[in-house]
Amino acid sequence: MDMVNAVYRKVTDGATEQELNQSLAQLKRHTETHFAEEEAFMTRIGFPDVDMHVKEHNQFLTRLRSLDGRAGKDKDAAVMDLMGLLGSWWESHIRDQDAKVAAFAKSNKKKAA
Ligand SMILES: [Fe+2]
Repeated sequence: MDMVNAVYRKVTDGATEQELNQSLAQLKRHTETHFAEEEAFMTRIGFPDVDMHVKEHNQFLTRLRSLDGRAGKDKDAAVMDLMGLLGSWWESHIRDQDAKVAAFAKSNKKKAA
């Protein structure tokens, strides 16, 4: 997701507290919408591991929400946590979980055709 990369870049470039809060709010809105769409898609195509996938989404949102208000107290720690979340979590989720959904969708399309 380009938006996630943009936030990551902004934060690593040394964002102010205000910018960090804006990025967090934007990221939250964006991921909530994105996850909801993805979850609806998984349900629609009958993806079998939907519960596990949704659990991962919720873990991400919980960690993201836990950063609320932290930028004012300890900005560096909040930035480190956000970078960890966007780097390791996001990358592995896309590589492992989202890839499984894409593969399932593709093989179902072939069967239906
Ligand atoms: Fe996902």
